[in-house]
Order: sequence, then structure tokens, then C-alpha cells
Amino acid sequence: MYSLKRVSGESLSLTEEHEAIARPRKGEIHWGAFDASAYSPAELDDAAALWATRAIQEMHSLALFTHLASQLHLLGAPLDWSGAFARMIADEVRHTDLCIRMCDALGRPTEPSIDPARLHLLEERSPRLHVRHVVLSAFCIGETISGRMFKRALKAANVPLAREVVSAIVIDETFHGELGWELGALLMRGEGDERAALAGDLPKLFGHYARLCCAKRGPSWARGEAEVRDGANFGTMTDAGYARAFFDGMEDDVVPGLVAIGLPEAEPAYSKLVAELNARC
Ligand SMILES: [Fe+2]
Ligand SMILES: [Fe+2]
Repeated sequence: MYSLKRVSGESLSLTEEHEAIARPRKGEIHWGAFDASAYSPAELDDAAALWATRAIQEMHSLALFTHLASQLHLLGAPLDWSGAFARMIADEVRHTDLCIRMCDALGRPTEPSIDPARLHLLEERSPRLHVRHVVLSAFCIGETISGRMFKRALKAANVPLAREVVSAIVIDETFHGELGWELGALLMRGEGDERAALAGDLPKLFGHYARLCCAKRGPSWARGEAEVRDGANFGTMTDAGYARAFFDGMEDDVVPGLVAIGLPEAEPAYSKLVAELNARC
């Protein structure tokens, strides 16, 4: 779908609307100023592999939030929730587009496709419980850690184009994390039976995000290694750098946040995860 508009080169109304959404909320990205020939093929390959992976992750967010928005409407959520979700969906369109454009600029085009099985959209749970689970997982945990990761990636990026692209994403992801905690707190109010089910999901969710963030060993490993490699940086970090964003995010924001919204089980679940990861050292 994404490649179609570029291959055809036609000017379509849908493309114009898309371009309007895909523009950064603040600032400008100077795609034309980037000179790929200033970098080695290996540097461009590494950077493109990272941005192609990010394109898939952003497209997953897009599919997940679109699905969630539809469920919220059916469950009778207030209209301001719809407005907030419309913004988030637009943001994920922008992020996916930016990642694809980065790969184009690097001379290594990509066409992300999503894996419906990874999204767990068809889980056999009630729609209410599914919505609560996704807000907890994708927003309170996923977006919070993603915001942290992109802030660190911005610090690491020394290629001007990558700095501009990461800046555009950071602005949105920070908002998504904040909104996630508002939604999480609202959804947990007066929660009865479903609270236990959500608490029971935490160990699996923590393990999932640890794997996604390359946290294959414990926090002391992540904090003792270099976060970035020397040389041209396109917004990438080492595995230890991603893992550190995970551990810092979990300890500073996610675990205390979950406890505050009524899930004290987050503390023992995180301690267990850390003990398991430390045992791998
Ligand atoms: Fe995103
Ligand atoms: Fe996001």
C-alpha cells in the first residue's frame, strides 16, 4: 500500500491528505539535505535495518490503536476518548511514514507488513477486558518505554536527518505515554473481577517488553555497558542501551505507575523478572 503511491507518482487526494497528517507537528525535516554518499554501505545497512524494524513496530501500533478505537466506540466511551485516539492514530501514521522515508533516504526502501497474530486482536476475552489489557500493555508499558527509548535515541543521533526524524517522533510518543496513564487510571476505577486478570497478565507482559528491548540480562549488565557505538549515529543504540531504557523506564515510571493505579502486583512481578535476568549473567 505504501509503495503504491510512490511507484505510481500520481497526485491523488488521498495522498495529499496523508501527507498533511504525516508532516511533523513541530519543525521540519530536511530530506533533501541528506547525502547518503557521505556514509559507508555498512553504516547505511545498519541504519536501514533499524528503521525498517521500527516501521513494522509503528505499523503494529497503528493497527492496534485503530482496532482499540473501534472497540471503545462500541463500549460507549465518551467522545473525548475518540478525539484523543484519533490523534494517536494520526501520530502512528506519521511515525510509520517517517520510518519508511528514512529507509528510502538511506537508499534501502522497505515495505512493512504487520503480523496479525502478534497483535492478539482476536483473543478470546470480553471486549471490556481486552481494552483494559491493551491500554495497560501498549500504553502504560509500551508507550512509556518507547518515549524513553526515543529520547535516548535523540541524544545518541548525530546525523542531522536522523535527529529531525527522531525529534518528530519523541514529541508524539511522550504524549502517548502520558495519555496512557490517564486512560489506565480511568479504566482501573471501581474495577472488580477484571483487576485480578489484569494483575495476572503482568509477568507475561514484562517478559514480552524485556525481550522487545533486548533486555537479555539484568540491569547491572545494561548499566555497565556502552549505550551507543562510536561513529555516525542514525538514532540507534546498543542492545545494552535499549535494555537500559527498559530497566530505567520500568523502575522510574511503569512499576510505580501500575502500583498507583491499583496493581501492586507489579512490584513482585518486576522483581521476579529481574531475578530471572540476573541469573542469566
Ligand atoms: Fe509510534
Ligand atoms: Fe506511540
